[in-house]
Amino acid sequence: MATHKLLLLPGDGIGPEVMAEVVRLIDWIDAQGIAHFTTESGLVGGAAYDADQLPITDATMARAEAADAIIFGAVGGPKWDSVPYEHRPEAGLLRLRKDLGLFANLRPAVCYPALAESSSLKREVVEGLDIMIVRELTGGVYFGEPKTITDLGNGQKRGIDTQIYDTYEIERIARVAFDLARKRGNKVTSMEKHNVMKSGVLWKEVVTQVHGREYTDVKLEHQLADSGGMQLVKWPKQFDVIVTDNLFGDLLSDIAAMLTGSLGMLPSASLGEVNANTGKRKAMYEPVHGSAPDIAGQGKANPLAMIASFGMALRYSLELGDLADKVDQAMAAVLAKGLRTADVMSDGMTAVSTSQMGEAVLTELKALHA
Ligand code: IPM
Ligand code: MG
Repeated sequence: MATHKLLLLPGDGIGPEVMAEVVRLIDWIDAQGIAHFTTESGLVGGAAYDADQLPITDATMARAEAADAIIFGAVGGPKWDSVPYEHRPEAGLLRLRKDLGLFANLRPAVCYPALAESSSLKREVVEGLDIMIVRELTGGVYFGEPKTITDLGNGQKRGIDTQIYDTYEIERIARVAFDLARKRGNKVTSMEKHNVMKSGVLWKEVVTQVHGREYTDVKLEHQLADSGGMQLVKWPKQFDVIVTDNLFGDLLSDIAAMLTGSLGMLPSASLGEVNANTGKRKAMYEPVHGSAPDIAGQGKANPLAMIASFGMALRYSLELGDLADKVDQAMAAVLAKGLRTADVMSDGMTAVSTSQMGEAVLTELKALHA
């Protein structure tokens, strides 16, 4: 049996707490011989800055390069508000994405039946929701140059960020979206601002071309990103796969998260290009939520987005799709039994801590394997 090499990067805030619940699953799966893992841990974000004055070291990057999958918690917090911009905690995350070429960010927003009441939207709007946001992750305004603040000398300063997309970047993310759609509802909605932005004009043009050349069997629709955000809240079930750029994807996926009840429910996978020789791709798995410093260390965090991210690692990197299905079923079962962390708590449900939630998922997973 293959041994899967995992690099765990818990990071800051609630990162370590939610990661502990994944470690609980890893240890059990390994002890049962269902799959074999070797795990290493590293520092990222503020934790790395405190230790090394860098948001991630070259040594940790080298270990990330060598891993079959990176499991990432969260970074950032007010403690590091005044560190130099290039060393801020988020820079560690952005370096991992960029240097490993993780251009395709998959953010599935699934509303578990048991959680339909936790959403701020009506049950009929969100119940049964299953959409996939495909966010471009290594381009656009996050990385475009120039990216500066200059002093204009007249008491004014100028802040510049640059939105750049080349054809190949749009083509490869479009292909990821169309390929996923073929395995799901066979529909892609591309979101950009072709009415204001040149990069949006190119985005629409290239997505349309890729569709016409390679994916005419898939239904393609375009929506302006602002109106797409509105439609996401109005009638999200019209969507199957949404493909969008780095910044719009950041915004739209936070909106989509709330459809599922809580930001604490949304996992993500960040994937690189498939290596033609090995058939493997670099990959990192992280919850969409942040480090939530306000609740860190209190056992209040919802570990399900982190656990679901580990589930995505099983599915997309480790060829353990059956086990991933069971992890999903175990989470659904725990929710169906009424267990809730504070973020998804509602009347008549049982409030549990981070570790009680993790334990309950493991108990269900054990039952599924009995
Ligand atoms: C996300 C986060 C990050 C982003 C931050 C932490 C840099 O919001 O993954 O959505 O903006 O991409
Ligand atoms: Mg975000």
